[in-house]
Amino acid sequence: MTEQLGTLEELPQDYRDQMAAAGVAPLWPMMRNVLPHDAPKPVTRSGHWSYPAVRPLLLRAGELTPVEKAERRVLVLSDPGRGAGAMQATATIYLGLQLLLPGESAPAHRHTPSAVRIVVEGQGGYTVVDGERLAMEPGDLVLTPGGEWHDHGHDGDEPVIWLDALDLPLFVQLEGSYAIEGDLQAQRNRPDASQVEYRAAGLAPSRRPGRGARRYPMMRYPWAATEAALRQMAAYGEGIAELDYINPETGEDVLPALGFTAMMLTDGQVEAPPLRSCSSAFHVIAGSGRCEIDGQVIEWGPKDTFTAPVFARIRHQAESEAFMVRIHDRPLQEKLGYYEERAT
Ligand SMILES: [Fe+2]
Repeated sequence: MTEQLGTLEELPQDYRDQMAAAGVAPLWPMMRNVLPHDAPKPVTRSGHWSYPAVRPLLLRAGELTPVEKAERRVLVLSDPGRGAGAMQATATIYLGLQLLLPGESAPAHRHTPSAVRIVVEGQGGYTVVDGERLAMEPGDLVLTPGGEWHDHGHDGDEPVIWLDALDLPLFVQLEGSYAIEGDLQAQRNRPDASQVEYRAAGLAPSRRPGRGARRYPMMRYPWAATEAALRQMAAYGEGIAELDYINPETGEDVLPALGFTAMMLTDGQVEAPPLRSCSSAFHVIAGSGRCEIDGQVIEWGPKDTFTAPVFARIRHQAESEAFMVRIHDRPLQEKLGYYEERAT
């Protein structure tokens, strides 16, 4: 195996000029960039967004920019490896913190990328997806899958803030990202599917011929149910309590490209997961602790968000009982056939 391949500079200038004029380029000087040995070389760098630092900026956006001028009043969490203004937190994950003030609404649209909202604070916010009104309580996970109409509203009397997680970077790379605008949706007068058809784990609406389940049968995952399940798992399971959010009809991840995993760490618990080929973002629901990511130490608190690149060496340590949601692109990598875990 040759360590050092030929460089562009070794080639005569007239040949380089002729190649440029012909619209071609030699592969060998660039090959190691796109096919490094043994493991990818990520552009992504670990980021940490402290909620106490970002929250005042988001509230100020509420004073400076009316929602009509923003449609979605969001501060994007930019990957430090790509620099300020980067519309992504990792190669595949877009993250943004969104503010909706009392009485405001965000107009209906649908788009090719899929989104998930994780509610950070506030009462009274709601999302309407395909006519189903989804309450947004702190910690809830709310899906707005690609192609589904969605709008947001707010009946409460305090600011509502949520974290948006989208597979947007993938769709931008595919040149497949676009949105269609529409009118606010008529809402069905009933609770959402997590309170009706999928009220209890292990139970689903009876299957009858010709009455197939919707592709996305459950759009809201109430935090109260997730926390209760994590606590039971921590009390009686082995190792760290982790639960994947799944489609209750198929058992698959909730979205095609992005996966979501709820985690609970008991006071003082240490967790050193295997090196994973997927990138991750951790959103803290409650608690505090520290995380070492490839040698960089992040001290995190409630409602913070931090990221880890592919194959990162991660070591969590809780300083109190803590709950987090890990956002990752394992479903996409499994579909492409290369998801991998390596021992630390
Ligand atoms: Fe949207």
